[in-house]
Amino acid sequence: MATAKNTKSKPGTDVLALLTAQHEEVDTLFEKLEKMTGDKKSTIIELADKLGAHATIEEKVFYPGVMSKETNEMLQESVEEHLEIKRLLADLLSDKLSAEQVDAKLSVLEENVSHHAHEEEEGKLFPLLRESMSDDELGALGSECLAMFEALMPQHPSQNIPNETDRAAPLPSVA
Ligand SMILES: [Fe+2]
Ligand SMILES: [Fe+2]
Repeated sequence: MATAKNTKSKPGTDVLALLTAQHEEVDTLFEKLEKMTGDKKSTIIELADKLGAHATIEEKVFYPGVMSKETNEMLQESVEEHLEIKRLLADLLSDKLSAEQVDAKLSVLEENVSHHAHEEEEGKLFPLLRESMSDDELGALGSECLAMFEALMPQHPSQNIPNETDRAAPLPSVA
């Protein structure tokens, strides 16, 4: 990546590095939840806040910003995977589950998130974008994503998740 010294434009936050770091934070929360024995509710809310804000910045900024003929199919699949993840999170936030059901749903959620974040995004989409986009473009998108994430987090984004379970987030059509 270009450094501030040899580029005139403002150094941005590399969007692929930002999103990958957020995936790792989510992995850490899943590990914590697996080891927990008592009430998991507050950690589930923390996880849902992070995943909710992460999904929103991807749906509103990142995916529209990288939409092309090449990525369209992957991105359509991505918003469907987000929908499945939000439905599981909405169940987990509902207070209607037994402890066994919470653990079962957390396990399915972890599998879904891991497949989506590590196999689909980090494994297929991100390498393609690293090849096809410039450092400046990735930096500008990252700065926009980070600003939106930081604005969303204090508003407890988990509270919006139950309202986002009807259909997948809309994406712009390919130009
Ligand atoms: Fe995603
Ligand atoms: Fe992601």
